[in-house]
Amino acid sequence: MSDKKRIGVLTSGGDCSGLNTAIRAVACSALSRGWDVFGIYNATDGLFARPMHYKQFTYADFDFPYARLGGTMLGTNNSGNPNQQITADGSVEELTDEQLVERFRDGVKELGLDALVVIGGDGSMAIVSKFCQQAGIAMVGIPKTIDNDAPATESAIGFATARNIVMEALDRLDTTANSHQRIMIVEVMGRGAGHLALEGAIAGMADICLIPEIPYTYEGVVKKLREIRASGRSHTLMVVAEGIKTPEGKHFYAANGRTFAGVANYFTERLSQEPDKFNVRANILGHVQRGGTPMAQDRLLASAFAVHAIELLEKGQTNRMVVCQKGRISDMDLKDVLKIAHTPVDPNGAMVQVARGLGMYVGE
Ligand code: F6P
Repeated sequence: MSDKKRIGVLTSGGDCSGLNTAIRAVACSALSRGWDVFGIYNATDGLFARPMHYKQFTYADFDFPYARLGGTMLGTNNSGNPNQQITADGSVEELTDEQLVERFRDGVKELGLDALVVIGGDGSMAIVSKFCQQAGIAMVGIPKTIDNDAPATESAIGFATARNIVMEALDRLDTTANSHQRIMIVEVMGRGAGHLALEGAIAGMADICLIPEIPYTYEGVVKKLREIRASGRSHTLMVVAEGIKTPEGKHFYAANGRTFAGVANYFTERLSQEPDKFNVRANILGHVQRGGTPMAQDRLLASAFAVHAIELLEKGQTNRMVVCQKGRISDMDLKDVLKIAHTPVDPNGAMVQVARGLGMYVGE
């Protein structure tokens, strides 16, 4: 690679707050070195599309305060199926795996890219790194996910803001639950991981929190609800991670058949039928958790990750993933990162201990 580089940057997977901060930081850090920076639209789709869908960044692109906003100015895709490309006229173009690799390779060549900075979750990181390998282009990954289960990193962009949204929702629900002596059940995203539910529940001072990593019993939940009532407390905040199974071992799926949704409604219906006449309401936070202006913590993480990614490229170190370990920004071989499965909540870890220490019911 020459000293002056041409790099691409893209966001891939579900959006979250802090992505625009990361895009800006990648662009500014590269522009300050005199490099050319290309933003690729809609994850890798921008490279598969013909004509390609990209823009060359200049500082002027950041006059508008994108970096302060949620979402991603480059668009993203979490369908996991690049073989079906939606064309500019709205029709679907079916591409074989070979055609995708060919387009990716040609796209990278046409733009003259030395490297691609991929801001994504573990799923998209694995997909994009395969294309990069096949196309012979260097890559550096930056982890983002509100689920905070990305391998090898203790923090990922988007988690802090989403956790705050859960906390704020619980703050708001607490007053209305108190006024009506209700049990508020709050369904929180996170897919198979309970980090968002658990940390949101602790910050939001919930009484019960069910997460996929810890088995619970329905009887345990009812017992806790009765204890709360007997203690003289008027209301209850109960957080349920979307990825938990019902006591019968059932997951509920959203209409797309792929993501989880529905467990709060399940508990609401079942608990309402108890002889205790529990007054229960379900609240599904959904994609609210992915929006809004990023908190300082996510802006700092996004900026630090991006600067580290550009420094790696400057030193000629590629196929790395930027990570945060023991509070320090570092990096790991992407291959090794991808071998690690996602990072669930440790049932014996510090956060679970805090929850239990507070008397929160988190399962058996
Ligand atoms: O991985 C992020 C996430 O928000 C999960 O917490 C959630 O299960 C899923 O994405 C929702 O995906 P979609 O945006 O496709 O509904």
